[in-house]
Amino acid sequence: MKKQKKEKNLSTLVLFKPKALKNHGSGLMLEGLLRPSFFFGYEIAELKKLKMTRAQAEEFYAEHKGKPFYQKLVNFMSSNYIVAIRIEYPVDEPDFIERFRKFVIGATDPNKAMRGTMRQLFGAKKEYAEGLPSNGVHASDSRESAARELSFFFTDFVAWTWGFCPFFSFF
Ligand code: CMP
Repeated sequence: MKKQKKEKNLSTLVLFKPKALKNHGSGLMLEGLLRPSFFFGYEIAELKKLKMTRAQAEEFYAEHKGKPFYQKLVNFMSSNYIVAIRIEYPVDEPDFIERFRKFVIGATDPNKAMRGTMRQLFGAKKEYAEGLPSNGVHASDSRESAARELSFFFTDFVAWTWGFCPFFSFF
């Protein structure tokens, strides 16, 4: 009998950035994230409020090291509490992370973000953001960065091993 393949789910990371937390905007932003979940079929699987140290923010955004906005970004991200959210999608659909980022989160520059996206709704409003680098929310941009970024906030997050570790993928 053919062994049935175990269904794998997929996770990605969303952060509500410090300015939103400073102005008590996390509830409305959470509502903004929940609404499209009914259409897209994702779940809010884990959520925590925390403060990143400067060193953690530097490591989290290491890929931007050397860019003109890096120091400002690191200072900003470690300036106040953030909310880290693990978004879970029930199937391992290859383009979910990109689709989620495009249609739910929106373009990095809130002024270019598609209407109705989190960054268009919150990223350009002074209560939640103040323009780049404070664009309201962060979301992982690929499976690889989702796996890396989730491990910063959800230490018992092991789902990435399904995709990346040959040993676990075997079962
Ligand atoms: P985020 O999704 O958190 O990922 C990288 C971050 O770098 C981005 O959102 C912005 O906060 C910041 N960023 C990207 N481009 C610029 C820019 N041109 N000027 C300032 N900040 C930027």
